[in-house]
Amino acid sequence: MALDVQAVRKEFPILSREIDGSPIVYLDSGNTSQKPRRVIDAMSAFLEQSYAPINRSSYRLAGEATEAYEGARRSVARFINAPSPDEVVFTKNATESMNLITQTWGRAHLSPGDAVLLTQMEHHANIVPWQMLATERGFDIRWIPLTADGELDLSDIAELLDGVKAVSFTAMSNVLGTITPVEQICRLAHDAGALAIVDACQYVPHNPTDVQAWDADLVAFSSHKMCGPSGIGMLWGRMELLDAIPPFLGGGNMIDTVTFDGFTTAPVPAKFEAGTPPIAEAVGLGAAVEFLEELGMHDVRQHEMDLTRYALDTLHERFGDDITIYGPDNVEHRGGVISFAFRDLHPHDVSQVLDERNVCVRAGHHCAKPLMKTLGVNATTRASLYLYNDTDDVDALADALDGATDIFGF
Ligand SMILES: Cc1ncc(COP(=O)(O)O)c(C=O)c1O
Repeated sequence: MALDVQAVRKEFPILSREIDGSPIVYLDSGNTSQKPRRVIDAMSAFLEQSYAPINRSSYRLAGEATEAYEGARRSVARFINAPSPDEVVFTKNATESMNLITQTWGRAHLSPGDAVLLTQMEHHANIVPWQMLATERGFDIRWIPLTADGELDLSDIAELLDGVKAVSFTAMSNVLGTITPVEQICRLAHDAGALAIVDACQYVPHNPTDVQAWDADLVAFSSHKMCGPSGIGMLWGRMELLDAIPPFLGGGNMIDTVTFDGFTTAPVPAKFEAGTPPIAEAVGLGAAVEFLEELGMHDVRQHEMDLTRYALDTLHERFGDDITIYGPDNVEHRGGVISFAFRDLHPHDVSQVLDERNVCVRAGHHCAKPLMKTLGVNATTRASLYLYNDTDDVDALADALDGATDIFGF
């Protein structure tokens, strides 16, 4: 294994917690990740010693807080290889980042007769904001279909791209685990004269990310899935683009000046950060980024590929035809998100039985109802792996599934 997982696990206090005398097997990191001690400590230390408003007051404590907030922005920029920290906008979460894109760029550029291209594996965060705007602006939404093993089917891509103004797609599916060919799609989008927008919410926490190598235009992701706190998300965008699009929310911090007649906007990123931002959360996010950098994202990815292979093999060997695992089998093409159907049990029943053994998984539509329709199911059970999971966790999942078999009398 590429990581010393036992050492990594020690950094996460919650993983030594027990419920009813046995440890927690946390397999829901695709939903939200657990937090290492240093993130918790960085936030506490900041709140105890350095908390103050940012960008507003001139006393030294406020300067210290501003520096901590901007330091987190620099860390995020480094982590995704952004050309400048000023291109990293802090939002509330990836969902808000997507809404920022549709309500600013989308509202300014889309009208009847236009189209945007999404994929059939998108999270609602990359569907509903487009649909909300489409009902108002009257443009079309097209969908890239999927192959039988859950990859993007690009065979009709030239036709789908014809006349499209933006391609907005996930870098890694939160249901299938599929890693999409981001560079290729960005290139195809640009060749067609369209913007390339990437939902990297599931990708950034698990893979080395280089937004310049992708040649993307806008990239959205969330802190809480990458060991940081909830309440803060990110939008990276090319400076010319962020500069050109109108502001999203109005209020304090996002203005240059305000008169009785109107206002002018502050430069990016402040232009998109109206109101008091999540200050301590940014500090926690900065600590999370440093934690991930120390582990090394190549090693994180290798660990997850090894563990995903082990999980797919274990579940297939132990349950054969009784389990259907969605998404590609090749771990080079997927991350550690494992959605499955188990016999004809309802995913909610499966997750309840697993919970009796402290195995935490998610059951439901995973905020991807159109994809559920494509798969022909209402819901799946989803186990999602991260850097603190090991083969024992996978074995615990398989043992607990055996338990479900006993309870439901197979
Ligand atoms: C692929 C994908 N996109 C977007 C989101 C939305 O993230 P958030 O809830 O942090 O806004 C999620 C969350 O599960 C996701 O998995």
